[in-house]
Amino acid sequence: MTDVIDGNAVASEVRDGLGDAIETLDEAGVTPGLATVLMSDDPASQTYVSMKQRDCTEVGIEAFDYELDPSTPADELYDLIDELNGRDDVHGILVQMPVPDHVDSREVLRRIDPAKDVDGFHPENVGRLVAGDARFKPCTPHGIQKLLDSAGVDPEGKEAVIVGRSDIVGKPMANLLIQKAAGGNATVTVCHSRTQNLEAHTRRADIVVAACGVPELVTGDMLSEGTVVIDVGVNRVDADTEKGYELVGDVDYDSAESKARAITPVPGGVGPMTRAMLLWNTVKAASEAAEVDVALP
Ligand code: GUN
Repeated sequence: MTDVIDGNAVASEVRDGLGDAIETLDEAGVTPGLATVLMSDDPASQTYVSMKQRDCTEVGIEAFDYELDPSTPADELYDLIDELNGRDDVHGILVQMPVPDHVDSREVLRRIDPAKDVDGFHPENVGRLVAGDARFKPCTPHGIQKLLDSAGVDPEGKEAVIVGRSDIVGKPMANLLIQKAAGGNATVTVCHSRTQNLEAHTRRADIVVAACGVPELVTGDMLSEGTVVIDVGVNRVDADTEKGYELVGDVDYDSAESKARAITPVPGGVGPMTRAMLLWNTVKAASEAAEVDVALP
């Protein structure tokens, strides 16, 4: 029987676990605050950001919502980041990626105070992650570690194949899985658009993390029996539905499910965990800023 990993259920456990920490902070007079900055007309980005804000409100984190027209000069975004860096009520800052072409995304990431960088994308935080001393683990790979743990999958000694080399998922996922630490100790291969013979890699994997943004690229015939399949993709493809599209992952679910020992669905797999770990990082940022010790789930 294939275990369909329920990301909503695991995310809900993480959110419940954060409740105690948020209460401890509240007793110390601290309300964690997350500022989200959206500079995009993309409907998917708008949906992601509004879901992140709703999650915050539900668990007792204050959400500060900033929306900039995509034509706004880059300096206005940089100035907003500087202002948010200086505010005591903002513990985490998230600028939704991608930003418009006239904005230097690297400057955006460098500009955010590393202590408020709840995405874990600032170069200092990337360096700390690589060095095995993470301050904020990036939300999607951190959420995947929790999902694997919830399914009883210990990566130690396993062959993990990551399909995709993005700064947001592929690279930090590889770094977490090779750490000499719980949730790591895997042998990791990172495949990407220039990889020759992708299926030769995926077929010898114990764990496949598909994060390449190509709808249904990974199919069941590319997998061995008993593989654990984590699907990060959220692709809108045209379909005869009310909205005119449907969401599919980077994995062809039906064919992969028949091979997998465990698999994440889309939607309802990785997505809710990414959002839960953003809350986790925001509570961590608030507790460190306020110097109040909390137990994180
Ligand atoms: N765009 C897609 N995923 C993410 C994410 O995790 N953080 C930010 N800031 N932008 C994104």
